[in-house]
Amino acid sequence: MNGDTPENPLRKGLELQEAGPCTVIIFGASGDLTRRKLLPALYNLARDGLLHPDTSVVGLARRPWSDEEFRSEMRKGVETYSRSQPVEEEVWNALAGDISYVQGEFGDLEAYEALGRRLQELDAERGEPGCRLFYLATPPSAYETILANLKTAGVVRGRNEPGEGRIIVEKPFGRDRESARRLNHAVHQTFLEDQVYRIDHYLGKETVQNLLVFRLENGIFEPLWNRRYVDHVQITVAEAEGVGTRGGFYEEVGVARDMLQNHLLQLLTLVAMEPPVRFDAKAVRDEKVKVLEAIPLPDPAEVARSVVRGQYAAGMVGGVEAAGYRKEKGVDPDSNTETYLAARFTIENWRWAGTPFYLRSGKRLPKRDSEITIVFKAAPHNFFAAGRGESPRPNLLRLRIQPLEGISLRIQSKSPGQAFHIDDVRMDFNYATSFGRESPEAYEHLLLDAIQGDPTLFAREDEVELSWKLVDRLVGAWSGDSRSRPHPYEAGAWGPVEADELIEADGRRWVRI
Ligand code: BG6
Repeated sequence: MNGDTPENPLRKGLELQEAGPCTVIIFGASGDLTRRKLLPALYNLARDGLLHPDTSVVGLARRPWSDEEFRSEMRKGVETYSRSQPVEEEVWNALAGDISYVQGEFGDLEAYEALGRRLQELDAERGEPGCRLFYLATPPSAYETILANLKTAGVVRGRNEPGEGRIIVEKPFGRDRESARRLNHAVHQTFLEDQVYRIDHYLGKETVQNLLVFRLENGIFEPLWNRRYVDHVQITVAEAEGVGTRGGFYEEVGVARDMLQNHLLQLLTLVAMEPPVRFDAKAVRDEKVKVLEAIPLPDPAEVARSVVRGQYAAGMVGGVEAAGYRKEKGVDPDSNTETYLAARFTIENWRWAGTPFYLRSGKRLPKRDSEITIVFKAAPHNFFAAGRGESPRPNLLRLRIQPLEGISLRIQSKSPGQAFHIDDVRMDFNYATSFGRESPEAYEHLLLDAIQGDPTLFAREDEVELSWKLVDRLVGAWSGDSRSRPHPYEAGAWGPVEADELIEADGRRWVRI
């Protein structure tokens, strides 16, 4: 593919293209997400000159705030959570002048009528309608009500009409395939699929986007990117934090629904997909869907063989005592919810048949660290290691997603000296030292894409349903077996020993992160 084609969305940020006029309407404007992520992201976009001067923000929530109170709450959010500090007065004042608030219950049609009037005023002020980007930052239980009221109040304009409506839906998108389907149906009563942006913030991470650039712009790796040269792939998303104040929520989800269905499977599809015929939303997402379609759905016996779940018990993380999951606030003292999961999946297609993908994610692991590791097959004939009675060491390509963003390649090298010693060395690329500037937050990338009308880095309807189909198999197998319980692991350990046994049974090991 020609990397310079203008449609390549990964180029946009580099060219600092400006967005068109837009109104971002946030439902759940008094919540944590708005304060911690959305307003800081909009502020940083404005600071980087990436928003059109006619960009407005309208918050909608229950709290009886005035415009002024809403602005001052949002200012506090930017002061606390923005990646760039201190807040630049000129930038903030310009943005704040375009922030307003509509108070109302999500179920109250009058609130939507008031919103409609506000949107018309904004269009009249700027002389042309900007896109209307609705953001569902509420608990999922409110989604259907909001969608129905938006339709009744007639505030959503059609695709390609002036003032086109778009909707960003936060995760979790359903809790199984059935509810995801119902939600898709509800969304489609008001929005066409092209107007829907299902957010997965992992797709907005700089390093995750770079995975595509790495694969598709560097000719030397693509010939190796298949079952002939890759022994297996490991994807690790480790967190040091526990469930914190979200115990009640977490009880209902567990790591399979919270992380596997979205973030981990998204990473897997990006590693495994075929190069798309073009770099646009349809072509990229078509290829991702094909990967999901090629993962065989495990039956309960296969789930028992290829998936291990765990739950943290008390322990020490980073030198600090951590309570066990069952002692966390809002958690059932006899809970069966998994806080850790390790799984082996296969992708039954020409590129990957016979190459396992090992995925693992958990809370209260030793550190926050996420990476994708491509473990290559060892050299076919080994002179040096075999002569010394050692097994050959494979090359590892490590795509480090966070926190030390970068890519490294492990190779074998003779260490200097008369004796014939072979050591591992690393060829390293680090974002921080190579570019010397901070990466934007995931929400900045994704909000800008939605404002510009580019859904490439958002999950499509079929992707979401297919990933739920797989997760449903796991959850179904566990709930169908009354003896199935997550294996305990000490907080601060790398998950239960059963997870090591899972991969060791295949003659492999988890890479040391
Ligand atoms: C969220 C999950 O989607 O991702 C959280 O709900 C998790 O449980 C978080 O902690 C991890 O995101 P990040 O960007 O910190 O890796």
